[in-house]
Amino acid sequence: TIAYLNGEFIPLEQARISPLDRGFLFGDGIYEVIPSYGGRMVGFTQHMARLANGLAAIEIGCDLDSMQWQIITQRLISDNRALLGDNIGVYLHVSRGADTRRYHAYPQGVSPTIFGFAFALAAPAQPDRLIHPGASVSLTQDLRWQRCHIKSTALLGNVMHFQQGAQEGNAETILFNQQGEITEASSSNVFIIKQGKAFTPPLDNQLLPGITRQLVLKCLSLANIEVAEEAITVDELMAADEVWITSSGKEILPITRVNGQIIGDGNVGEIWEQVFTVYSQQKFEL
Ligand code: PDD
Repeated sequence: TIAYLNGEFIPLEQARISPLDRGFLFGDGIYEVIPSYGGRMVGFTQHMARLANGLAAIEIGCDLDSMQWQIITQRLISDNRALLGDNIGVYLHVSRGADTRRYHAYPQGVSPTIFGFAFALAAPAQPDRLIHPGASVSLTQDLRWQRCHIKSTALLGNVMHFQQGAQEGNAETILFNQQGEITEASSSNVFIIKQGKAFTPPLDNQLLPGITRQLVLKCLSLANIEVAEEAITVDELMAADEVWITSSGKEILPITRVNGQIIGDGNVGEIWEQVFTVYSQQKFEL
């Protein structure tokens, strides 16, 4: 595939960065994953806003404006479509760059490393509860850091949580804090449905402000389903009628089993079908 590195489009296997890059040594960087289907991106403006927030939060100065990012992203999609097909995720990454020494403080006069590549996404699911099998997740205490709202490339905490779920044969791992409240999953956000009403944890430092989460909130309101951004306890999760996880790669994934226990009646829910139908129709416009 064709990748982008510091101003150039090159074959991915030819991309080279310094081992002194702080993204490599410290996980000192910010990233985004933007989904696209048939060449059309979902949530591009929102992804750009979050990227700008992340770069500002860790004081990385990056000269690219949203228009330049759009040109890069579109080109990664169009140049790789023949190889990857219609469903493409674009990974964008800005790390602080290569310093001449390994010193913790932010270095002066170092230019950031800007990298992007494209990868194949799974085809979107059909919004049909009778054909979607539903997915299983693990549930465990959130042992990550307290700045989870920053989309940092330092993902070891997330990786270790995801790995636990994978080892248990599950698609994801949902996380709860010391108060027994759900934060998010290791690489997605969480929604539940109880008695026809939707709930998702409020945005704070314990979770990433997911773009799919934001778009799903819009779809819930388009579908006239009441929604509260409110703490969800583990007990409330386990007793929910429906559980969903959301992310750029998974869209809205219905969960029918948590830590081996069946959710609701064990089938993919009606409200999932309703909201995912709206999402599937409107996602390029949201
Ligand atoms: N993961 N929470 C975490 C910890 C995430 O890493 C992600 C995204 C989300 C969902 O955010 P969004 O809807 O903007 O994709 C929530 C990306 C896709 C990844 O790391 O691959």
